[in-house]
Order: sequence, then structure tokens, then C-alpha cells
Amino acid sequence: MNIVNEIAGWQSPSNLAIIKYWGKYGNQLPQNPSLSITLSHSFTETIIEYTQMEKGHGLTSDFYFEDQKLPAFKTRIDQFLSKVSGRFNHLNNLHLTIQSKNSFPHSSGIASSASAMSALALCLCTIDEALSGSKTHYNDFLNKASFIARIGSGSACRSVYPYASIWGQISTLPHSHQEYAIPFGDEIHPIFRTLNNDILIVSSDQKSISSTAGHEMMNNNPYAPVRYEQARTKMDLLLNVMKEGDFFAFGNIAENEALTLHALMMSSEPSYVLMKPESLLLIQKIRTFRHDTGYPVFFSLDAGPNLHLLYPADISDSIKTWIHDELLPLCQNNYLIHDKAGKGPSQIEEFSIE
Ligand code: DP6
Repeated sequence: MNIVNEIAGWQSPSNLAIIKYWGKYGNQLPQNPSLSITLSHSFTETIIEYTQMEKGHGLTSDFYFEDQKLPAFKTRIDQFLSKVSGRFNHLNNLHLTIQSKNSFPHSSGIASSASAMSALALCLCTIDEALSGSKTHYNDFLNKASFIARIGSGSACRSVYPYASIWGQISTLPHSHQEYAIPFGDEIHPIFRTLNNDILIVSSDQKSISSTAGHEMMNNNPYAPVRYEQARTKMDLLLNVMKEGDFFAFGNIAENEALTLHALMMSSEPSYVLMKPESLLLIQKIRTFRHDTGYPVFFSLDAGPNLHLLYPADISDSIKTWIHDELLPLCQNNYLIHDKAGKGPSQIEEFSIE
């Protein structure tokens, strides 16, 4: 007889890398350290109903994304569960009914693997903890969630901490690690804890080359060794800049990293371009505006055509009209998501599942 359903749920945000993770080896280990800002409004909400099954059942699941069964997602979840189940003591012989939804439209072009995989990892850690009957220290809980999330999607390991996270070993940071992210939010200047990050949606089309395929191509990219070295140097610089609160230096690193990422794509074999004409027009507009007005507005890019507009919270009112008049018309269907640095994941305590 199968016993009682229990429920675990987490809301977990996406993140924007300032120093990019691009290139990996082994079991999803990064070729260079990366640093990201944890977002606030772009998140995934995942609820898992779990049922204890008889011995020998193993770990099985059903997956619903926004109330629909999506076979492509289910395959990725199954692969993930089979990779991580051995890392838990109490997830044998369970059936999971996983329900997931995003705060942003699925087809918005926003990468959702970081929020999705971190939400899922947090739920699994909660279930394992509940079944163990003892409470884990919260820091250890997040550390494990980050480790598990990494196996689902590298960038997901950075989503579990407030404001900013670092993933990958850095010689000057003794606690930094290849297998999980560490929090950096406490050490940064307050200007970055209220950082605005407007996502300018240039295209919501599915990417022609997935991030996973892009990482793979780094293995044959002739610039890869120099790139990994450069990322380390820039990381040292960024750590200081973020502690001191030098927004211009921060923005310059963010832009340089974004364009380096896309340059690596263009110099891959086969070469590919993910930016659209509107991405370049937006870059020009942002740089011209910065030059002409002196306002600290910068951009970043993920592995896609959409821009992240980065600026301190205290200039929001002054640049609102410029964003509306100059940038919005270049976005697909005038679509922009106002996001900002955020506090990290939160556990869902109240459930409305039938
Ligand atoms: C450009 O974490 O999506 O966003 O580990 O294969 O799932 P997998 O890749 P993913 O790669 C993210 C790449 C990036 C840069 C970053 O977030 O650091």
C-alpha cells in the first residue's frame, strides 16, 4: 500500500552572469569561475507531491509544466533525477508529481534552466530532509541544493543565494568551489543589491543552438585557453569593483563579458550568431546615451539576442522616458521585463493543489 502524499514547494529565481560560464568538463564542472546577480521577478515555482512507494520501486515522476505534460521537459527531468538520486538517502521508492510554472512567459526567450533546475533541486533537498526526520543547518541545505542544481544546469547552482553568487574555484577565495556556488551578496556594495535589470526582449524564438551545444563547441575553440585565463583575471577585478561599488567599472566588465561570449560563438566551429540586428541597435543606443549623458547604463547578454539593461536604482526615474521612447520600439511587441537583483529562493508554505 502506498502511503500519504506530502508536498514540497519552492520559488527560485533566474540569474544573470556578469562573468560568464562558457565551457565545461567532466560532470558539469566549469572551465572558469563565474559570478552572477540573482534576479527577482523572473522565477520558477515548483511544487512536488511525493508518495512513498513499496521497496524496489525506485524514483519515478510525472511532470507538468503550466498544467501540461511536456515530453521534452520530462526527458530532461528524468535524466536529472537519475543522475542525482544517489546523492540523497531518502529518495528511493518515491513517486513525484512535479508541477512547475514560470513567472515569465515560456516563449519569452528568457533562459529558464537556472530557475527551473534550482527550484527542483531545492524541492528534492526539502523532501530528503523531511523524510530524514532531522533538520539540516540552512547554510548546509543551500550548499547541497546548489550542488544538486549544478548537475541539472550549471548556471542553476548560482540561483540559490541572495543578490550575487560565485561558482568555480578562485585562488583568492578559499571557500569557492567547482561543484557548487557560494554566496557573495553580503560582500557587495549596496548599489548592486538594488541593481535594476530590465530584460529587453528582442526575440522570443527558441535558440538555434542550445547552451549545452555551445559549451561543447568550446572544446574545439582555438581561443578557449585564453578565454579561461581572461575570465580569471576579470573575476579578480570584478570582486574588488563590486565590493567598492564602482558602477562604471562593473558595467564595463559586464559589457566586455557579454560581447566576449558572443565572440566565442562567432568563432566556434561551426560559427553561429545569436544576436539580431535589434540587439546591435540597442547596444549602440545604450552606449551613445551613456556617452552623451554620463548616466551609468550598461548592458549584458545571455546566450541569445535579448539584452539586459543594467543601471542603479536611483537613476530609474531619470531614464524611464529614454527607455520607453528609444529602447522599447526595438523590442519584440514592445516587450520588456523589469527585473532587479533579488533575495533568492523562497519556500512555498501554502499549497492550492487539488
Ligand atoms: C551564457 O547553465 O544553461 O548563460 O550547464 O549546459 O545547462 P548547462 O548550461 P547553462 O549555461 C549558461 C550559459 C550562460 C552564461 C552563464 O549563465 O554563466
